[in-house]
Amino acid sequence: MARAATLGLAALGVLGALVSGRHQGEPSGDEPPIWERIDLPSVAACGGCHLEVYREWSQSLHAKAWTNANVRAATEDFAQAACRPCHSPLPVLPRGLGKPPAYRAFNQDDGVHCLSCHGMEGGVAAARTLEAPCKPRYEPRFLEADSCYPCHEPTHDAFTEYETSDAFAVGVRCVDCHMQPAPDRPGRSHGPSGGMNAAFVERALAWDVRVADGVLVVELRNRTGHKFPGEIPSRSFVLSVRFDDAEPQRTLLRKPHKGEEREDDRLLPDETRALRFPVPDGARAADVRLLFLPLPLLRDDQGFELGRRALELGR
Ligand code: HEC
Ligand code: HEC
Ligand code: HEC
Ligand code: HEC
Ligand code: HEC
Repeated sequence: MARAATLGLAALGVLGALVSGRHQGEPSGDEPPIWERIDLPSVAACGGCHLEVYREWSQSLHAKAWTNANVRAATEDFAQAACRPCHSPLPVLPRGLGKPPAYRAFNQDDGVHCLSCHGMEGGVAAARTLEAPCKPRYEPRFLEADSCYPCHEPTHDAFTEYETSDAFAVGVRCVDCHMQPAPDRPGRSHGPSGGMNAAFVERALAWDVRVADGVLVVELRNRTGHKFPGEIPSRSFVLSVRFDDAEPQRTLLRKPHKGEEREDDRLLPDETRALRFPVPDGARAADVRLLFLPLPLLRDDQGFELGRRALELGR
């Protein structure tokens, strides 16, 4: 704790000079303290004292919600006003979690920044109340899955899916999966925990392969709290089965793009699905691969391999 504060104050000295040219940590005049300054980017408002959390967050898509190329293209560089609020949001707690967020019309490049989630009146929302400069305050709403609701439900139906899942039934929250304990410090990781992180995606499936009566059966079970692949339409799952040296047979599961005539064939929450491949006469070996393609137009060999099994079929 002492270490965090010392490090933080040292770093803030530098940042403070950059940001306002005056010594940080102590508000002067009627300006609010730095950690309440919604007009400052995350690095200046929080990053100086919470260096590790800041570093993790800056790798995540929350940090890139305004700048990433997919979003820029889909929103015509945010010319579409309806797309702005969740991709550059004001704090959600003061507004109420039942409402979509309000648009932060400044400092947009900061995306979903620290105060979007933590901001509340008189301090920052936290799991406990602590004596610290930023006034962490225990906030029960912040600790519920609903704190993700205002952005993830209205256009993306995350909760409509989640509420049908076993995870929801036993009280496993979004955060319990998506913010794992940080490996190198106490607390939860704010880093990438979605389709761009291969190790994370591997958690999504349990699977098995068997051969019976001349049919190879791959059984997939969705272990996420929503459909798999989840939410983002640029992600796809590919099951590739190859007998001997034949061309691989591919089964592709993904969310349809807006306006696209395609069935939503993703795995439902907790669904177990068996995919069947008749074994060709005389086949000796099968190679089964589970692949995840985080971006459209990737070839199979550019995706993440979630699992692979080689089978001898010889009688
Ligand atoms: C001047 C330094 C400083 C600034 C700026 C600052 N914090 Fe803190 N914060 C601390 C210290 C010190 C603690 C208590 C020790 C710790 O857990 O790191 C703390 C604790 C917290 C906690 C609770 C941690 C726990 O263990 O439960 C949260 C949440 C938090 N800060 C969020 C923020 C956010 C969000 C911002 C930016 C809006 C911010 N802080 C800005 C110094 C700062
Ligand atoms: C204020 C709005 C907002 C809130 C609150 C919010 N998100 Fe997000 N989230 C977004 C946006 C916008 C994106 C998409 C960013 C992009 O890809 O451009 C996103 C992306 C994600 C991703 C993909 C991240 C990655 O790095 O791969 C995950 C996972 C996620 N959110 C989980 C959560 C969870 C869990 C919560 C609740 C603790 C939450 N979000 C709260 C707006 C929000
Ligand atoms: C209610 C909040 C909200 C609004 C409004 C919103 N988004 Fe998003 N957006 C999200 C969240 C949350 C994510 C991350 C999860 C997902 O993709 O479902 C996201 C992700 C995306 C992604 C995928 C980003 C990636 O990394 O691949 C694109 C593209 C996107 N949004 C475009 C749009 C467009 C276009 C609009 C306006 C028509 C819009 N969004 C309006 C919340 C919102
Ligand atoms: C998408 C929402 C979201 C964003 C954005 C976000 N946080 Fe958090 N933060 C959380 C949640 C949820 C927790 C964990 C609460 C719990 O323990 O259950 C948390 C925990 C923390 C803690 C306590 C220690 C820990 O790691 O668990 C600190 C400190 C903190 N956040 C600081 C920050 C800072 C600094 C930023 C910006 C760089 C930031 N947060 C961005 C949601 C967010
Ligand atoms: C039981 C664990 C679990 C729970 C609960 C869970 N998720 Fe996920 N989620 C995952 C896994 C694993 C993935 C990665 C595979 C995939 O794309 O489905 C994922 C993917 C996502 C993605 C796509 C991210 C990307 O970059 O492609 C978003 C957004 C998301 N989850 C949001 C949420 C929200 C919001 C909640 C709560 C309503 C939630 N998740 C609950 C495990 C979980």
